[in-house]
Amino acid sequence: PIPVIIDCDTGVDDALALLFAVRHPGLDVRAITCVAGNTDVDGVVRNTLTVLEQAGAGDIPVARGAERPLIEPARSARHVHGEDGMGDLGLPAPTRVPVDVDAVTLLRREILASPRPVTLIPMAPLTNIALLLRTHPEVVRNIERIVFMGGAVATGNATPVAEFNVWHDPEAAAVLLTAGVPITMYGLDVFKRVLVPAADVQRLRESAQPRLRLAGELLAHRDPATSGDPTPTGGLGDAGAVCAVVDPGGLTTELLPVEVSLAPGATRGQTVVDRRPRPGESEIHEGERELSLVDVGLDVDVERYVKLW
Ligand code: BDR
Ligand code: CA
Repeated sequence: PIPVIIDCDTGVDDALALLFAVRHPGLDVRAITCVAGNTDVDGVVRNTLTVLEQAGAGDIPVARGAERPLIEPARSARHVHGEDGMGDLGLPAPTRVPVDVDAVTLLRREILASPRPVTLIPMAPLTNIALLLRTHPEVVRNIERIVFMGGAVATGNATPVAEFNVWHDPEAAAVLLTAGVPITMYGLDVFKRVLVPAADVQRLRESAQPRLRLAGELLAHRDPATSGDPTPTGGLGDAGAVCAVVDPGGLTTELLPVEVSLAPGATRGQTVVDRRPRPGESEIHEGERELSLVDVGLDVDVERYVKLW
């Protein structure tokens, strides 16, 4: 199996990603780290531990990470993910606590201890990952690649042009993009498209298996008409980024220059993706700036990922 570490802000769709990742035989989930995003970081830790227990994966180490972005205050998405950050489904409190080291320490330890290079799957604001890269840059030698949910080629959700995870901590996202390892951007453009058909959602809700019922309830909880949620009812959301690790062939990508707008104002947090035809990769210097090349998800085989999940 592929060794992976997930960084999340659980989160309705983060929960869908965790339920899938910990059960898939092709993945070895070595650790899960939590960051403020959809809700405050303690809520994220609680939700993550609860989901793992429901999934029968109560032994994966979970660490608490950053409680706010690098520069700005935290801004939760409770209006989208509910008061508890995970759909207010009345789930039980977890029976265990996170490990006694912080997220950056756990990330470093697990990355360097892995016998094979690790794939990181951040699906939340990138604060923990930026702190890791700046504090322990030696970790890149044992990172295979980073497949992150974040950014948008076209329309944003937090603002007209910015996607929530990048908008929440744009400086951290900018650090990620210059990590010096292969990066895949599973952005809003593909994220929004992967929807589970209503009949399958209903089948899950009626399942005798608690973890499948939970998946069904999470998929059903939102009404896109009223919630303003980026993930419509039935949307796999962040779980699609895990699918892109298990089955990269289901995601059509193009290696493109990507830059995060750090300017205050209307464009802050936008991922500016340069899709102009380029003569060659030597041309990606714009003035003084060297732009990072990122494998940007442009199309997704929806049926393939729904089936996989
Ligand atoms: C992202 O923001 C969060 O609300 C979701 O969990 C997802 O990671 C989508 O913009
Ligand atoms: Ca998320």
